[in-house]
Amino acid sequence: MTTEAPQYSLGKNKINFLLLEGIHASALEVLNGAGYHSIQTLPKAVQGEELKALLADVHFIGIRSQTQMTADIIANAPKLQAIGCFCIGTNQVDLEAARERGIAVFNAPYSNTRSVAELVLAEAIMLLRGIPHKNQEAHQGGWIKSAANSYEIRGKTLGIVGYGAIGTQLSVLAESLGMHVVYHDVVKKLPLGNARQVANLQQLLEQSDVVSLHVPALASTKWMMGEAEIAAMKKGAVLINASRGNVVVIEPLVEALRSGRLLGAAIDVFPKEPGSNTERFESPLQGLSNVILTPHIGGSTLEAQAGIGAEVAEKLVKYSDNGTTTSSVNFPEVALPEHPGRHRILHVHQNIPGVMSAINGALSQNKINISGQYLMTKGETGYVVIDVDAQSSSLALEKLSEVEGTIRCRVLY
Ligand code: NAI
Repeated sequence: MTTEAPQYSLGKNKINFLLLEGIHASALEVLNGAGYHSIQTLPKAVQGEELKALLADVHFIGIRSQTQMTADIIANAPKLQAIGCFCIGTNQVDLEAARERGIAVFNAPYSNTRSVAELVLAEAIMLLRGIPHKNQEAHQGGWIKSAANSYEIRGKTLGIVGYGAIGTQLSVLAESLGMHVVYHDVVKKLPLGNARQVANLQQLLEQSDVVSLHVPALASTKWMMGEAEIAAMKKGAVLINASRGNVVVIEPLVEALRSGRLLGAAIDVFPKEPGSNTERFESPLQGLSNVILTPHIGGSTLEAQAGIGAEVAEKLVKYSDNGTTTSSVNFPEVALPEHPGRHRILHVHQNIPGVMSAINGALSQNKINISGQYLMTKGETGYVVIDVDAQSSSLALEKLSEVEGTIRCRVLY
């Protein structure tokens, strides 16, 4: 085995949590509610040697985007069972290194879905009314009292590119305001309400008054809105991008906005974004009065933060309490029922031929009855959960720990 993590489930009072970077109090509420009280919280990120020292006795860590969980840090966290990223991204964690050591990583991909959808809808209204320009002028003493180029969004067509979590939420909200919704997705998606999937991006661009992008960062979505696609949009349409900064090519967009071919744009994500609030933001879109620029805050609301706190804490509790790894970003996903009256063995191993037969062989040779078994693999890692009679669990743990390829093995009571 490659870990010094505890093999027997500890009493909850001995399971130590470290929450960094001012994680929302909703996380504490969930952990306390589940019986976990040994929780250290710090308002800031911690790095390097200081982090290693803090992790010496920690079983679960919660971080946001700043704390760097490198392979070196992970290797020096002898008791760590799981990492909770209380945010969307997981680039700050060496996911491979964590998986190799049997450490599951969780995040909160969907807690800010509604926040993004609401902002996009508000921006669609603002842009179709020419508010950015009128607002700017009014601040400087101007007075543009005019209905020229001002439209209701009711009855207009919204084209959603990427009909996933955010795209579908937006679809529902937009229809409730009387918009017609069409969407383009690479996957055939069930339409919500009266929305309609179109055959390709071109068809969407040709008919939409508002185009909103909600695709993930993939090679296929990089620069997908280029010169030709922007040119294919209806005259007087608006473009909203709150997905990823490299989905839209900025120069042709600037051109279309300057010439007035597009009525406006709202951009929340950029090819180059400042690393912190103290760095200067530069973009060719600056100075255009028909453009709303926001600093990547589509999902940044207090409600989303509270949702993230609760969502990730619940995932950590489920993993600690019964081994469930559903929606882990680096680990085989296993959704597990309760195990009343049984002990549960969690066995993380290298995904190589022979491990499962060695496990089952060891159990049958030692006459250990299996009352439930759940196996899942991901890449080079396998995760099997085995429920056994309470009196057999010590022997089962001993025998399974000896199986070649074992990374980590522990028992939950
Ligand atoms: P999701 O994974 O639920 O949905 C993405 C959808 O796009 C899927 O239905 C997928 O099939 C589709 N898709 C993939 N490639 C496509 C292509 N080439 N053309 C058309 N459709 C394609 O993702 P979710 O949660 O809706 O997020 C969407 C985007 O929003 C992501 O890029 C995410 O990073 C970003 N985001 C931005 C935030 C902000 O603060 N601005 C906050 C949260 C998410």
